[in-house]
Amino acid sequence: MTADIKPTFHWEEGRLIFLDQTLLPQREVEIRCRELPQLAEAIKSLRIRGAPALGIAAAFGVALHVWHDRGPTSADLLRSAEEAADILRKTRPTAVNLFWALDRMLSVARPSVHLPIAAFKQRLLDEAQAILKEDLETGRAIGANGLKLIPQKASIITHCNAGGLATGGYGTALAVVFAAAETGRDIHVFVDETRPLLQGARLTAYELKRAGIDHTLIADSMAASLLAQGKVNLAIVGADRIASNGDVANKIGTYSLAIACDYHSVPFYVAAPTSTVDLSLPEGSRIPIEHRAPEEVRGWMGNPAVPEGTPCWNPAFDVTPAKLISAIITEEGVLYPPYDLPEALKSHAQGVKQDV
Ligand code: MRU
Repeated sequence: MTADIKPTFHWEEGRLIFLDQTLLPQREVEIRCRELPQLAEAIKSLRIRGAPALGIAAAFGVALHVWHDRGPTSADLLRSAEEAADILRKTRPTAVNLFWALDRMLSVARPSVHLPIAAFKQRLLDEAQAILKEDLETGRAIGANGLKLIPQKASIITHCNAGGLATGGYGTALAVVFAAAETGRDIHVFVDETRPLLQGARLTAYELKRAGIDHTLIADSMAASLLAQGKVNLAIVGADRIASNGDVANKIGTYSLAIACDYHSVPFYVAAPTSTVDLSLPEGSRIPIEHRAPEEVRGWMGNPAVPEGTPCWNPAFDVTPAKLISAIITEEGVLYPPYDLPEALKSHAQGVKQDV
């Protein structure tokens, strides 16, 4: 599958094009997005989702808004970029990649204000394209770095979707799975369905099927029994935000899987780009957790499964404490406990390959 990675995003004649992930796997419908409100809605409603993909979408959102702005000066366009960033910051709170990408776009926009308007627009589009390209390279590097943790024959459990759809096109947790399969390892993946929105069942199973990798779907509640029966060698999941001490926010249910892995002495790995690390937060309890509409828990695709009005609690993410995480796989290398992310990223900035 190496040669034909299809980027999750595509820019064509002033439009950002991506699949509507809420319709997968039944229907592959492209959204051709020209307006910022449409993109903001697509993010809020998970038509596009997954932490790195949210960063890429946000970057293109700024570029898109500026591209179609008819303001006569680059100062007007800079205001437009800032307005787009303000709107996009309010879409989803947990994945730090979204905020990272917006900050990066504005850090390019501000010093470019002296450029003629056509050049200013092109500069922002180029930066969004660069974020997409870098993410594809990052995914490949995460996959390669994670290989040493994968035995020649491995049964792997994963939660949610941290594959190509959640990124620029190759994935984080699934990047390691794809790289292992590409290098001839005998891989079987157990896919948590990931209630309430079924990103595992709908999206991870879809990606594994397309890649020709053996997999078995389970309901989330089956994971502990599977581990108890010794049917799993290791777990790999993605991340939405990693605090300085290595605590990880990821899809709700990740924490319960990590506890079950710890109880059964099964290694639990997190794979994420360094843009998912939030050094402003000392620990995971400070990570903002998105709470979503109760309807998502009450039923599925508009079909209610509970008595009308049943109260629901619907946090979209949980925080797995660092002490349950056996290693964090990044594009720079593999980090092992005790985690000191500020130190690790400092070494990265100094060009030291991590493997500590
Ligand atoms: O609500 P979602 O579907 O955006 O949640 C996605 C996840 O939790 C992923 O595991 C995470 O973003 C990592 S994606 C490489």
